[in-house]
Amino acid sequence: MKTTFIRVKNEDDKRLKDAAEIIKRGGLVIFPTETVYGLGANALDAQASSHIYKAKGRPSDNPLIIHIARPEDAEKYAYTSPLYYKISERFMPGPITVIMKKRDIIPVSVTGGLDSVAVRCPVNKTARKLIELSGVPIAAPSANISGRPSPTKAEHCVQDMDSRVDMIIDGGPCEVGVESTIVSVLDGKVRLLRPGRVTLEELREVCGDVEVDDAVVRKMKDNEHPLAPGMKYRHYAPKAPVWAVTGAEEKVNAFFRAREVEKCGILCYDEDAESLPQSELVLTFGHHDDLEEQAKLLFDALRRFDSLPVREIYARLPSDSGIGFAVRNRLVKACGFNAIDLDKVKVVGICGSIGSGKSTFARELERLGAFRIDCDEVYSVIVGAPGKCIDELRESFGENIVLPDGSLDRKALSEEVFSNSDKLELLDLITHKYISAEVDRLILEGEKLGRNIILVEAPLLFESGFDKKCDTTVAVTAPESVKLERITARDGCTVEEARARLYRQLDDITLSSKSDKIIVNDTDENGLIKSAESLYKELNA
Ligand code: TXA
Ligand code: MG
Repeated sequence: MKTTFIRVKNEDDKRLKDAAEIIKRGGLVIFPTETVYGLGANALDAQASSHIYKAKGRPSDNPLIIHIARPEDAEKYAYTSPLYYKISERFMPGPITVIMKKRDIIPVSVTGGLDSVAVRCPVNKTARKLIELSGVPIAAPSANISGRPSPTKAEHCVQDMDSRVDMIIDGGPCEVGVESTIVSVLDGKVRLLRPGRVTLEELREVCGDVEVDDAVVRKMKDNEHPLAPGMKYRHYAPKAPVWAVTGAEEKVNAFFRAREVEKCGILCYDEDAESLPQSELVLTFGHHDDLEEQAKLLFDALRRFDSLPVREIYARLPSDSGIGFAVRNRLVKACGFNAIDLDKVKVVGICGSIGSGKSTFARELERLGAFRIDCDEVYSVIVGAPGKCIDELRESFGENIVLPDGSLDRKALSEEVFSNSDKLELLDLITHKYISAEVDRLILEGEKLGRNIILVEAPLLFESGFDKKCDTTVAVTAPESVKLERITARDGCTVEEARARLYRQLDDITLSSKSDKIIVNDTDENGLIKSAESLYKELNA
């Protein structure tokens, strides 16, 4: 199908007649509205509307909104009520859609099989003129391929719909930028099914009590059905997965900086971007306080990520007041409800010398729900297979520290560095760099899993500088005699050997003075478990 593209300055453009002719004969026309661009067809023609579903790749159970030129035209297509007029007098023409019981003249294929119909009278003059000239209501969903962000500029419509529709009318960028507010007035109650430019606060002013459908604020389970069928789909989404990030200013900015280094996409406020390096991967959606601007820019920004080389996107979760509620709703959907609340996350460093019981303690916290990162294990994985870390170690310490399978010969390495403090320092410098990067990756993994407590269990917590990754640090200590007993029993070594190993590490007094909390493990395992339980409670409070 060849798509005709026209650019109209105002509703007097003669070519709108051609567009209306296309609608009348059952074709598809993309037109501007104040919210987003719509993909229109004659709402009274079942066959014409079925082309909409095909062009968008939209599931047939997801009903369409019918667009009318005057609020009172609703009468012809729906059973209106005083509530409808209360709403329409205040907000129509404008960015609001009202769901009412439908009249027979509207085909069920337009309403996805429902006996209700969604009615909207846009304020955009080009849209209204097109409806008037067509002489029929126009069924129109947003003019995007199903699941993609709604189009707020004609170029977005071309990206998605070129050669799938008869005509695209470019009327410039949409003023609002998020789709209309949808309310149902079925059962004589006002229910908000989708937030938009007409805000919940404004609706409550006019209608009193307004319920908010669950699908607006939380993820639907597989067996649940939102009142607006379209709300169940992952929507508005770029191709890469998106995570919504909240938290104190500095925390979010530090988080964004770290992600930018990893070449992730960042969607943030103009103000955030000022503290980030200039990068094509950092996109902004307006000023911190300008919620209307955020609404206007959100979808365009989400779309732009598709042409950038990003595997993941992290987005600032906007305020939820006024129109911010709608912006937040769209973003949360784009994220598929993936969220990271940095204010809730506590990264806890756990240190302690050998035999102190630090691992038992950390495992107990893990059992209670914490996300545990064992730095010893991270080290073993890194040096257990060929890779950049081994390459660097080989360069510094020679070929003989690498085993035939490409993994590290730990014994050879410790002989190499043993009793040479310069070499030991170099070794730490190299390995800590790789362990640090992996620990950062694992912290992010814990955050993405929604874990509030993330443990960094590190024997060299302070020496490695990993304590700087932590919000709080805990030292597990025990009397030397107890430690020696544990080490000899566990590793089958002599007391002298155990003592030598112990003395190579920071002593309990030093560790305790550096840590925020001290756990004294001088009784039995039950005592340690109790300490873990009370710390877990305290951290979660
Ligand atoms: O601003 C807008 O509303 C734009 C412009 C083009 O007018 N249109 C739009 O349409 O966003 P669409 O199809 O992308 O979203 C319509 C939403 C869907 O979630 C759909 O499930 C819901 O409205 N809907 C339509 N008819 C309904 C009905 N009878 N009952 C419940 N929900 C309905
Ligand atoms: Mg849509």
